[in-house]
Amino acid sequence: MSDNVKATNITWHEATVGREDREKLHGHRAACLWFTGLPSSGKSTIALEVENLLHAQGCHTIVLDGDNIRHGLNKNLGFSPEDRAENIRRIGEVANLFVEGGTIVMTAFISPYREDRDMARALVPEGRFFEIHVDCALDICEERDPKGLYKKARAGEIKDFTGIDAPYEAPKNPEIVIDTGALSLEESAQRVIDALKESGILP
Ligand code: ADX
Repeated sequence: MSDNVKATNITWHEATVGREDREKLHGHRAACLWFTGLPSSGKSTIALEVENLLHAQGCHTIVLDGDNIRHGLNKNLGFSPEDRAENIRRIGEVANLFVEGGTIVMTAFISPYREDRDMARALVPEGRFFEIHVDCALDICEERDPKGLYKKARAGEIKDFTGIDAPYEAPKNPEIVIDTGALSLEESAQRVIDALKESGILP
């Protein structure tokens, strides 16, 4: 879908207020924290906890969550590899808009394909994209199953379910790995905050 360019006779307008101006105003740098992992690995939970910590220290934040975005912007997309690629392409574009706006944007999407995550990375300025592998063993995710979807997938009621009959390609060189089977929610969120301090996103 992304190659299907229909927009012609369009001109790019440069803004006079730039990302750096907005970052100065906010007192921190902008970044995209791209959480990826199996269903029920803890992506959204950690992203929201990181947001709580960042918000409490006065940072400008937003969380884009797969289930939520699929209620609106991406409600015309399913779970085929092509639709998942388009899902991630749109979110990569939206995330980059927030980065341009000087915000720390957190995305919580399974984003199971390496190629799609790399595409999202390429949209965001160098050094501002943090791939965060929420690494949790399938049997633990399946045991948690808060939405009962693994159960349905095992029963054949959901097709192409990630981890069961659709693949999850783990990141090879993520900026951050969080083992949610071993770390508490607080420890997981703190690991992300520490990485943001180390890389100068947070003062
Ligand atoms: S992604 O693969 O395209 O990145 P996304 O994160 O947007 O997926 O959506 C995943 C959510 O959709 C899951 O948390 C789950 O609630 C729901 N879902 C419904 N069907 C599937 C499926 N076949 N595979 C994975 N998740 C599914």
